[in-house]
Formats: sequence, structure tokens, C-alpha cells
Amino acid sequence: MDNSKIKRYTVTAALPYTNGPVHIGHLAGVYLPADTYVRFLRANNRDVKFICGSDENGVPITLKAKREGVSPQEVVDKYHKIIGDSFRDFGVSFDIYHRTSSQMHHQTASDFFETLYNKGVFTEEVTEQYYDEKAQTFLADRYITGTCPKCGSESAYGDQCENCGSTLNATDLINPKSTLSGEPPVRKETKNWFLPLEKYEDQLRTYIESHKEWKPNVYGQCQSWLNAGLQPRAMTRDLDWGVKVPLKDAAGKVLYVWFDAPIGYISATRELFEYARLDVWNPKSEEYYINQKEVQKGNWEDYWKDDSTKLVHFIGKDNIVFHCIIFPAMLMAHGGYTLADNVPANEFLNLEGQKISTSKNWAVWLNEYLVEFKDKQDVLRYVLTATAPETKDNDFTWKDFQARNNNELVAVFGNFVNRVVVLTHKYFGGKVPMLMNVTPEDQLVIDELAAAPAKISASIEQYRFREALMEVMNVARIGNKYLAETEPWKVIKTDEDRVRTILNISLQIVASLEILIEPFLPFTADKLMKMLSYGGHQWEDAGKMNLLVRGHQLNEPVLLFEKIEDSEVQAQIDKLNKSKDDNIKANTVAAPAKENIDFEQFSAMDIRVATIIAAEKVEKTKKLLKLTLDTGIDQRTVVSGIAEYFKPEDIIGKQVSVLVNLAPREIKGVVSQGMILMSENADGELSFVSPMENHNNGSVIR
Ligand code: MF3
Ligand code: ZN
Repeated sequence: MDNSKIKRYTVTAALPYTNGPVHIGHLAGVYLPADTYVRFLRANNRDVKFICGSDENGVPITLKAKREGVSPQEVVDKYHKIIGDSFRDFGVSFDIYHRTSSQMHHQTASDFFETLYNKGVFTEEVTEQYYDEKAQTFLADRYITGTCPKCGSESAYGDQCENCGSTLNATDLINPKSTLSGEPPVRKETKNWFLPLEKYEDQLRTYIESHKEWKPNVYGQCQSWLNAGLQPRAMTRDLDWGVKVPLKDAAGKVLYVWFDAPIGYISATRELFEYARLDVWNPKSEEYYINQKEVQKGNWEDYWKDDSTKLVHFIGKDNIVFHCIIFPAMLMAHGGYTLADNVPANEFLNLEGQKISTSKNWAVWLNEYLVEFKDKQDVLRYVLTATAPETKDNDFTWKDFQARNNNELVAVFGNFVNRVVVLTHKYFGGKVPMLMNVTPEDQLVIDELAAAPAKISASIEQYRFREALMEVMNVARIGNKYLAETEPWKVIKTDEDRVRTILNISLQIVASLEILIEPFLPFTADKLMKMLSYGGHQWEDAGKMNLLVRGHQLNEPVLLFEKIEDSEVQAQIDKLNKSKDDNIKANTVAAPAKENIDFEQFSAMDIRVATIIAAEKVEKTKKLLKLTLDTGIDQRTVVSGIAEYFKPEDIIGKQVSVLVNLAPREIKGVVSQGMILMSENADGELSFVSPMENHNNGSVIR
């Protein structure tokens, strides 16, 4: 969009699902770039509203509630608070953090649906869906498990097999079972309302193709969706949690979560204008928190329905189709709305080389980070922006976190600022000294400083935040180099005026750094502002030489960053590994107990201690070993399916338990007389069941 046409900005960040806290992947992928962008716009005096909220509908919430034995409302209340707190604590400066369980949202989403319905946009289709007769409810795909038709895994979900990763339809599952009752579901007819996406294909293509400037990953995904051909998509679901479908014949149905969630951006904006008043921080009210201290001027529609508004959606890559195809189609169908000017979606952030996983607890949770690294929000903001997955997936490691803190924030940025402020106090009582004679080498530095803000702006406006941050760090590097070359601590002995000039220039660099770093590291900027005892800067001032006037009194220096020790990051790595182990344990569900037997049946089994005296592989098999046992009674052959776990030479001499009165069977041409008892864990690993101390062969086990 042509900059001169822009009157205002609506910047949205994906509404996080309220079924868990937020982690570094969310921050790096969505909320930090969005916040940086918005802070930059505000520093440029642009009119901007930064919109977000909790996505509180949808099946994952109801599943979580079931699992925890609480109501969906309790789940969303809990995480809305945790997530909202994390954002606030990390300085993500939303104008409003709303929620989709609110009255305002239900009303807005419901009205939106009704408008489309009245315009005859939807098609009605009766389809067969799985129904749980015992629980008397239709089953969302996630509520059905069964055997994966592709890989045979027995714990596939109705929408996806987590074992082999294939996308499934619930009706593809072999032996489907309802997770509610454990019973096989039946098929039952149900009516739902579909958005015929194919009708908007041409309009969408024109829209997308007018945005060749979008990031290649985003543009490419849109093209491939369009080229594959769009299909009608159900906008209602048989579920009892969410926004009720506002039609007479729609009892027990709610809006599809991907229909209502993006409308959440609109309802949050409405809330901001219509109800949000002077309560800046009110955790009890539904608006959660609001950034400004005045009643809003203007009206929500300016931010959604005016061509001079630039709408930008910050999202992760798994949300592209919803923001670039489905939501625009909804807005087109409705009419009157502006479409997003850009959707700068990021790729994914991995953690220590592995995919971040909520269910496996392989994550760095923001709420936990803040306890362990108190007041170090900006360190994480820095590292996550510097390694943001802007163009490809990227990896967060604790070692890198430590290195960037120690070598960049402490050694470059913090060191420069500290030296300048300390020297000013030492030589001039903390008063900004006068700029005297500017040498050609000074002028070079002044010119470099003057050129930096435009470069940084250009990068930010193109959503290249890593690049922009590196440019800011470069300004600190220029400063460090300047000090190293001019050596004011030596010159002070011979030429005080020269030092005045050097420190004046250095202080102007520090003041510019305060402005330039603010969108990225707001807490640091705040400390800097206090240290410099100055405020009320604007972006356009950055790079200038008159930010701190001669004689201005600075405050005492404070350290902006401190070194992070090996032990601190090692503790984090250990914690991750431990949570992985705990998770494996927690996920090991014991098989259900078998039916009772009586004592006679038990004592009918003759189980003895025996020693393996010979072992060899059964030819042409992978799993079988032929073992010769000394059972105390005799020497006999037993065939056992343990070859994948044990090498013959490793088990000779081992004592084992063997069921000796099992009727002999022929297995692959070998007669097996008995069975060795093994324990098998959830991963299918085998272990012998042996007496703790050696007993005579033939000892009875009972
Ligand atoms: N809750 C979704 C997710 O976490 C994002 C919703 S974005 C919105 O992936 F547009 F729908 F709000
Ligand atoms: Zn599978």
C-alpha cells in the first residue's frame, strides 16, 4: 500500500488458543514481530491499533476440559489469565487483549454469520457424521480414535495420525471408537452450512496476485491453494461449546472455530471503541487490558472498513490459509470490509534441534522463563528476534541464548552505553559536555549515525526485523569502535576539550540507540531513558546530534545487561531433558487388568527358574532365537521372539523364568517346549524376569 495513502493501521496478532500457556515459539513467530512493528509505528506518530485476544472456542478446549475434569469455561479462564499476563510481562503492547468467549464476540460473530446467511451465501448440506449414542452427541474428528489406515497405528485421531503424520477423515479410521464413551460411533445425518469458497476463487486470485510483495512462503502457499481448486467448507459444527449458530433449525450447533476466531479481531476492535474506557488494567473485566489512557477517538469501523486503513495480520505459517483465503472470502462475502495489506507469516522455531511440542512439554514457557530469568524479558526478546524464523525454520538453543547475551548485549550494547555514561560522570560530573571541534573522523561517525535510522525503518517496513535489529546493534558497534579509536581515557590527560567532543558525540549515539532499540527492547529503552534523564523522543529524532543538550544532567549509570553463567543455561538444558523423561513416564499407560482367575488356574502353571546354556538365531527369521535351557528337570529347547533385543552371545548363562508345562509347539520348524517370561514396556522393549539372586535351576516360581 502506498505510504502516502495510509491514514491508520490495524495490526492483528493471531489469537492464541487458550488450552495452554504461550511459549517462545509463539513469541518469536508472531507476537514479537507484531509488537516491534507497532512500537515502530507509534514512535513514528502513526495512528495504530494493536489487536489480539484469546481464541477460546473449538474442540481442543473441550478436550482439555474433559481431560482435566473441569468445564471449558474454567479452562479458558485459567489460560486467558496466564497468557494475558505473559504478554503484558513481556511488554507486548496490545491496545486490547480481548477474548472470544465474551458477549461482544458472540454478538459480532453471530451477526456476521447472519448477514452471510441472509445474503444467501451459504449452501446447506446434509452429511453423515459420527455420533456417540451413549453420550448423545456428534463427535468432532478429534473425539474419535482408531487404527490408522496408512500405518496401522492404533491411536490415530479422526483428523490426523500422529504416528505417521497423515491427515485423515474420521470415516477412514479402522475400528473407530468414541473417546467419550469408548463405544464405536454410529453414522448419523446432520445438516451444516457451507461457505462455497470456489465462488470466490477469481476474486481471491486477483487479491493475492495484487500482493506479489508478500513473503515468498506466504504467496507460494496461497498460489498452491488456489491452483489446487477451492472447495466448500463447513462453517458450522455439531458441538456444544462456541458461538451458537443463530438459526432456528440449528440446535446443538456452533460456528466453526476458524469462522469465529478471525472475527475476533473485529469484535476486539469494537470492544476497544465501544466499551473500553479509562480502566488501563482491569483483569476482571473482559477487555483484560488496554494500552491507552483516554477514551478512544473515532470508531471501530474506521479500522476495518476504510480504504485508507492498512490491515496487517501477524501469524504463524500454519495459519496462512485461514488468513489469506478463508477470512478474505468471508469478508468479500460480507462486503464493506478492507482486506489485509500484508500477512507476514513466519516459519517455526525449534528448540534444541527438536520441534516444540506442547504435549511433550518440549518448550520454554514464557511464564516459567520470567521466574527463572527475572527482569530479563529483553534478553529473550533480543535472542528471539535475532534468530526469528522469518524465512525458514530456525533453532533456539540455550547456548546461543547465553552467547548472544554475553557477546552482543553485554559486550557490545551494554558496554558502549556504560562506558559513555561512566566517563561522562567521571570527567564532567554527569553533565553533557559541549561539542567543540569536529574532526573528519568524527564527521564520519556522525554521518554513519545519521544514515542508520532510514535503513532500520526500511527493514522494519518490509517486516525484516532480524535485519533491522542487526542494524541497531551496528550503531552500538560504531560507537564502540569510535571510543576504541579516540581513546578519551588517554586524551583526557592532555586535551579535555577533545574529550568533550568525543563524549558529546558518543552520548548522542547513546540517545539515538534509546530510540532505535525501543521497538525491540522496550525495557532496556526505558532504563536508558531514565539513565539519560530524558523522554518523549520520536523516531524521526534518531540519528540527530542535538538529542542531549550541553549541560544536561545524566543520572547514575546502571548496568543494562549482565553476564549469564554456564550453570544457568545448563540448568535449563537439564530441565528440558527432565521434562522429556517425565513425559515418557507420564505417557506410559498400563494395560487394563485382565479378568480374575481362580487359584487352581494359577497353580496349574508350572513356572521354574532355568539357565540359558545355548542360544542361536532361528534361520530365515528376524525375531526368533532358539534357546537351550537347563530347567533343573531336563535340558530343553525353547523358541523365543527376542532376537531384536538380545544377541545370543550376551544371554548365555542368564537365569530366567520359564513356563515349563506349556504344550509343545512347532515354530518355524523347531519344536518349542515352554515359554520364557518377559516383561515388555510401552516402547515394546523386553526384559527377562529373573530371580534377584541365583537360585538352583528348577526352583519353583509361585
Ligand atoms: N488460535 C489459532 C492458533 O493458535 C490462531 C487463530 S488466529 C485467528 O493457531 F485469526 F483466527 F484469530
Ligand atoms: Zn498412521
